[in-house]
Amino acid sequence: MSKHIPVFEKFIEDLRAAWKELPDAEARMKKGQKLLEELVKDESLRQAAKSWPSTEGRKNLLFHEDAECGFAINGVVRNPGRKGSIHDHAHAWTAYGVLDGTESLERFRRVDDRSKAGYAKLELESVTEGKAGKVDLVPPFDIHAEQGGPTRSVAVILRSERVAGKVLQGSYSIEGNLYRQIEGPTNIPYEITG
Ligand SMILES: [Fe+2]
Repeated sequence: MSKHIPVFEKFIEDLRAAWKELPDAEARMKKGQKLLEELVKDESLRQAAKSWPSTEGRKNLLFHEDAECGFAINGVVRNPGRKGSIHDHAHAWTAYGVLDGTESLERFRRVDDRSKAGYAKLELESVTEGKAGKVDLVPPFDIHAEQGGPTRSVAVILRSERVAGKVLQGSYSIEGNLYRQIEGPTNIPYEITG
């Protein structure tokens, strides 16, 4: 894989070390959350992100997928005021770090008994304000939505493994109590240069 700016290469190296040292996805991702918190405070990365292309149309930038350890690092660039849909990330753990702008992260609780196909009843559990430097850790199958803020916003996402193109993920509608499984976003390979 090609070379990114130094702070990002260091992030990848530190993740590889954590993956080798720690026994399971939860422990690795809790360490990954800490490493991502440092990364999204980095000014050189924030400056680099000013030129990243929009990922509107259900896309993710793919910065790195680790051939040896399996983790994946994505980017999303949202237009101002973007409405996010409600979804889960299947069995993968996800650390979601806001690098530029602000977003709000909504978490939902599922309150039906999962017995009816295509049906899911959700309740809004919490809304947290994500500003630059904030990282939210989303466990497997947790239901959530990322909402854009008043300006362009950029996030860096660490996934315990790539979901898109491998398994389907859950998609929900709170108005219609609907549940279905969908393909993940299209991954666009992208190199982070200064
Ligand atoms: Fe998500």
